[in-house]
Amino acid sequence: MKRVISLIDMDCFYAQVEQRDNPSLWGQPVIVVQHSRQGIEGGILAVSYEARPFGVKRGMTVAEAKLKCPQISICHVPIGEYVDKADIQKYRDASAEVFRVLNNYDSQIIIEKASVDEAFLDLSAYTNQKLQELRENEGLEEFLQAAITYLPTTHLATGEDVKENEHLREDVLLEYIENARNCTENLLLLIAAVTVEQIRQQIHEETQFFCSAGVGNNKMMAKLVCARHKPRQQTLIPWFYVREILRLTPIGDVRGFGGKMGNRIQEMLNITLMGELLEVDISQLIETFPNQHEYLRSVAEGHCDEPVRPRKESSSIAVSKNFPGKLSIRSVLELKKWLDGLTKELAKRLATDQAENKRTAENLVYSLLTEDGKPQKTLKITSYHPDTLFEQIWAAMKGLNKTNATKNEDSGPWTPPILNISLSATRFQPGIPAQNRSIHEWLYEKKTRKSRRKAAIYDENDGREDVIFVEPPEKLKKPNPTPKSTGTDGDFIVLGSDSDDDVVQPKTDDNWIFVDGKKFSKMAWRHLPPDIKKHYQHRIALEEARALKSKTGGSRKRAGAHTDNAQKPKKPKSLESFFKKKKP
Ligand code: CTP
Ligand code: CA
Ligand code: CA
Repeated sequence: MKRVISLIDMDCFYAQVEQRDNPSLWGQPVIVVQHSRQGIEGGILAVSYEARPFGVKRGMTVAEAKLKCPQISICHVPIGEYVDKADIQKYRDASAEVFRVLNNYDSQIIIEKASVDEAFLDLSAYTNQKLQELRENEGLEEFLQAAITYLPTTHLATGEDVKENEHLREDVLLEYIENARNCTENLLLLIAAVTVEQIRQQIHEETQFFCSAGVGNNKMMAKLVCARHKPRQQTLIPWFYVREILRLTPIGDVRGFGGKMGNRIQEMLNITLMGELLEVDISQLIETFPNQHEYLRSVAEGHCDEPVRPRKESSSIAVSKNFPGKLSIRSVLELKKWLDGLTKELAKRLATDQAENKRTAENLVYSLLTEDGKPQKTLKITSYHPDTLFEQIWAAMKGLNKTNATKNEDSGPWTPPILNISLSATRFQPGIPAQNRSIHEWLYEKKTRKSRRKAAIYDENDGREDVIFVEPPEKLKKPNPTPKSTGTDGDFIVLGSDSDDDVVQPKTDDNWIFVDGKKFSKMAWRHLPPDIKKHYQHRIALEEARALKSKTGGSRKRAGAHTDNAQKPKKPKSLESFFKKKKP
């Protein structure tokens, strides 16, 4: 029996976190920039979908992004409280909110956190159970009739889906639903797709964040198709279409083949697509990859039997800082300063983790990357208090100084120069030891200090602590006017009211486009970024089709659809009435 797997990936995640923090940024081109290092501005980490049509990409410099999109808003990753390095805690916290929704959705769904913004879901047990219930209660037929209304953002990966319009999207899905009736495997995928639509909706309701998803029979295919229709959409890949999809898939796009392995395959076999890998002569494959040929062949066929491993919290908490080239650490004082800051950052994260997850780390591994090797040592943690942690690490670390003339261990030069310091807490055990009072005292001190600091920053930074918001220079603002959005409403940007002076006011109704009862000026429409336009086009096409259908009495009938149902897609029943959720 095949598995039923989904991958949910947040859309432009760091950018959405910033947009939620500052709602005027919703619907705007936004980038999130790495914290600058020694005055050199960091690279771009995240790009909102509104900025992508301008050609702004991750990894570009801010200057390049401004050239491509002068009106872009720039948000900076905050700087650590104790140490001069990026502090991505706010994105971790936002991630935790998303995972709270995922982990509480239904106890039968296995969740594996794959990264800060993505999770694998094993829906095998859940969908089997739901299908069984539908069959037992004789609700399957009614569910199939209604299924299309629960799939507003789902695409079927057929290969043609990348160029499809709204009519096609629905028709292809309806045909799939119709044929699924007699195929358990496809019924399970259908139930999964409906459920994932629901989960994504719930994520949005509880966190405001949008995400995309892939649904298929294994991790590899779910991950691969998740990227097919982004943002705010999901893609279903039934096994029947796996080969067709892989045929034209670049090898580097497949999970696990984006790096060295993928490059080796491409170079040694002189191919670029998964379809070509499948066609490589078996003797050549064996000769080139004697130990991996079976695995490679099965991947090319779309197989992947890696299970979804329930993983709610990470198994280690680490802080680390690079000191490349000229920035390497060469004195004891410098090392102690950085070690002190990093220890405090680690202690802060450990204390938060302890309170949240009711667990305590046993070990602390420190490692120093030097020009001469990578000494590393594991210590037993006796307390989470930063001073105790620091003393413990320093006592073990100071002997690594190779400077001969070291009389005083606490000052003077340090050799060999240090290029990276990493501290990692591991081996978490359930529970909080009683002697942890001192850490709470420390945290309490920290809190009062922080609120004082916050108060100070609030004054000078308009109430926004973390984000430094850089306005583009006046003369660069809006060289070609983009429509102002007056807010978002679900999937829609509601375009400006009559007072919107950026948009030339249309005179007659012919100048307006109506979508789901909302009014868009055609002028404003033309300036929408293509991605967003595509999103609305789906809706408009759907609406036109509905209008046409009601005029012609629903002549564009679909195979198998009941007449009363084909007339106007409506929700005869809430999804909840089909699927009762199980709480953990
Ligand atoms: N990220 C990062 N450094 C990287 C890759 C990613 O800091 N080298 C951060 C990004 O800021 C991003 C988040 O991790 O917002 C998730 O990354 P990813 O899913 O790859 O990209 P997204 O920005 O979420 O965009 P998409 O909608 O394409 O998934
Ligand atoms: Ca993402
Ligand atoms: Ca991701």
